[in-house]
Amino acid sequence: MSDRHHRSTLLDLSGQKPLAAGRKQSVYDHPEIAGLLVKILTDGPERRRLFPRYSEYRYGSYRPWHREASEYLSVLNRGNAEIERLSRFYGFVPTTSGPGLVVEKLTGPDGRLAPTLREQVRATPKGSRQRDLLRAEVEDLLADLSRARIIVGDLHAGNIVRAAERDNRLVIVDGLGERTLLPLTQISNTAYRAAHERRRRNLMRTIERAKHHIVDSSAGLVPA
Ligand SMILES: Nc1ncnc2c1ncn2[C@@H]1O[C@H](COP(=O)(O)OP(=O)(O)O)[C@@H](O)[C@H]1O
Ligand SMILES: [Mg+2]
Repeated sequence: MSDRHHRSTLLDLSGQKPLAAGRKQSVYDHPEIAGLLVKILTDGPERRRLFPRYSEYRYGSYRPWHREASEYLSVLNRGNAEIERLSRFYGFVPTTSGPGLVVEKLTGPDGRLAPTLREQVRATPKGSRQRDLLRAEVEDLLADLSRARIIVGDLHAGNIVRAAERDNRLVIVDGLGERTLLPLTQISNTAYRAAHERRRRNLMRTIERAKHHIVDSSAGLVPA
């Protein structure tokens, strides 16, 4: 296969600026299909163990993507309506910036990228009624996840957004799947409930304690 042919099969992300970036991934508009996003891994290669796990050997730095895809497929297999609480997963694609993960683009009221729960919490004063309402919405989200036994190993407010595509309800966009070597939570109801409760408590605590930021148009978010 010629190099020219190979390049033409890559999704071209060159010259595009990311719409958002977390600690590990950057998020781009899909250059060919409206309404989809492409995620690119931005952190360096994972540390190498002397005896790498099989999945490390097989997927390298992309192991988290395999975990997410596996959890998503497991939810599909069970046929749970609660899959609505997850951004849709469209698979993997080669890009000019390396392997890409294609997902549904969730948006906010302005048509831009959906606001994160973290941003929304910070826009409310501690102990306020608005913040209590947000917490009630998070409890509702977590109840749905639990009912469908959906595992979100990396559950935090930066991985949750409010999506116009879901009647403005909260949706998980990252962190799907179990991160431990022996994923007991996939097998045992008791282990699932224990892990879910631990993650729920941590998330609710950070929401309760988050500092209020006043949105200042010149400087972005500043502490109140
Ligand atoms: N499907 C999506 N729809 C809308 N925004 C998203 C979506 N996925 C990610 N984002 C935005 O991009 C940010 C970073 O993406 P994320 O997948 O959480 O990467 P990281 O692994 O770096 O945390 C998120 O905090 C969110 O604001
Ligand atoms: Mg994230």
